[in-house]
Amino acid sequence: MAGLIERFSHRLPVSPETPVISLEEGSTPLIPAPALSQTIGEDRQVYLKFEGLNPTGSFKDRGMTVAVSKAMEEGSRGLICASTGNTSASAAAYAARAGVPCWVVLPAGKVATGKLAQAIIHGARVIPIDGNFDIALQRVIEISNSEGITLVNSVNPYRIEGQKTVSFEIIDELGHAPDSHFLPVGNAGNITAAWRGYSEELESNRIPIPPRMMGCQAAGSAPIVSGSVVENPETIATAIRIGNPASWQGALQAVEQSNGTILAVEDEEILAAYHHLASREGVFCEPASAASVAGLLKRFHAGLEICPAGGTIVCTLTGNGLKDPDLAVAGTILPDPVDADLDSLRKAMDLS
Ligand code: F0G
Repeated sequence: MAGLIERFSHRLPVSPETPVISLEEGSTPLIPAPALSQTIGEDRQVYLKFEGLNPTGSFKDRGMTVAVSKAMEEGSRGLICASTGNTSASAAAYAARAGVPCWVVLPAGKVATGKLAQAIIHGARVIPIDGNFDIALQRVIEISNSEGITLVNSVNPYRIEGQKTVSFEIIDELGHAPDSHFLPVGNAGNITAAWRGYSEELESNRIPIPPRMMGCQAAGSAPIVSGSVVENPETIATAIRIGNPASWQGALQAVEQSNGTILAVEDEEILAAYHHLASREGVFCEPASAASVAGLLKRFHAGLEICPAGGTIVCTLTGNGLKDPDLAVAGTILPDPVDADLDSLRKAMDLS
C-alpha cells in the first residue's frame, strides 16, 4: 500500500515538487473488538484503529511524513523535537530516511525503553533534560527559531495535516463515520487532527454527521479536564504525561463542535484496559493508547452516554505495546528453567 502523501495528495498541502519522504505509513487496520462490543452491549460495535502498526509503531508517522517532506522541500538543515518518546522515534526514522540530522529533547528517565532505542538506532542526537515534556517543548521552540532547524512537534502545522488522514481511513473502511471516537490526549495534536479530518469530510458531504470526539487524559495529567495547567504531571502512561498541551484550543474546539467531551481516566483504569486489550482482544498497545478504551469503559460503567444502540465506536490505539516492554513484564517472575525432556515439560505445563 502506498504511503499517505501518495494516497491523499489532493487533500494534503503538497505539490508535485514536494520530495516525498515516506515509510509507507498509514493504512492501519481497523480491528473489530468483539469482547469489548459484548461488554458494551445493545448491538454496539467497537473497533480499534491500531496505529501501533505504523512503520515506527505509532500514529506520529502520519504527521511526520508530511512535516519532513515539507522540511526537505524548504531546504531544512535538520529536525528537532521535544518528546515523551514516540515523536522522537518517528522524527529520528524520517530524518534518517531524508539524510538530515535530528535532535530529540526528552524528559530524563520518563521515556519507555523501546522508544529510546528507536531514536538511538536511527542516529538521532538524544538529549535528556532534567525537566518534563512541557519544558522540553518550550526549549525546542526557542532553539528551532534561533537556529533555523525545523521543529517537528505537532505545533508544526504539517504534522496535523498528515494526522488528519486517520479519519479518512476510518470513514473509507466503515463506509460511514463512527458515532463516537475515543482517543488518548496528551499534547492534543491528535484529537485536533482527527477532528480536522472529520470536519473536512463533513464539508465535502462525504459524511452527514461527524462522530462525537471523546478525548481521554490520564487523571494525573489532565489539564484540559481541570481547566488549568498541571505543573508536575504524573501518570504511568508516560506518552501522555503532559501538563500544558500545545493544542489545548484545538481539543476544546473538537469537543465543542462535535458535542463530545474530554475526560480523565485513572492509571488503574488505563492498566485494566491495557490488560483487557492484550488478554481478550489479542491486541498489544502501549499504556497511553489504552486510555481511549479506559475512557469508553469508564463512561459505560458510569451509565453515561457513549453511543446510541446499534451504533459504532472507534477507539484509537496510538502506539505499539512493544514500545514499553518493561511495563508489560513488570511484576512477572519467570519460572526457573526445567529439563528439556517431555515429562518435565508436561509437568511444567500443569497437564495431568
Ligand atoms: N498516545 C501515544 C502513544 C503518544 O505517544 C501520544 C503523544 C499520545 C497518545 C497523545 O497524542 O500528544 O497528539 O495528544 N506523544 C507525544 C510524543 C507527546 O512526544 O511522542 P497528542
